[in-house]
Amino acid sequence: MGMQAQFHRRYRLAEEQIPFLLDGVPCTGRRGDTVMVAILTVAGELRSTEFTGEKRAGFCLIGACQDCYVLTAEGSRVRACTTLLRPGMEFITSILEAGGVR
Ligand code: FES
Repeated sequence: MGMQAQFHRRYRLAEEQIPFLLDGVPCTGRRGDTVMVAILTVAGELRSTEFTGEKRAGFCLIGACQDCYVLTAEGSRVRACTTLLRPGMEFITSILEAGGVR
């Protein structure tokens, strides 16, 4: 997890808080957040590419491009822009730390 957050939360500030882990760091999203919104309000990227290490933070934001997938601690991946955040989800931004995509 690096860089300054991409998103700044301006609405739904009073919504129920939803805890999740990002690279082992406890973070908090809000009820109704997508995984993308939850992560990018606390971090600058969703992951690094497996090819060049370039940082990625999504592109289309509507579920079409697959640029926003993020790795889970269990070794799977989810499309961050269309997946609703659930309590206790664990994400890893580095593919090397995750041991690759399964
Ligand atoms: S940003 Fe394109 S599929 Fe999520």
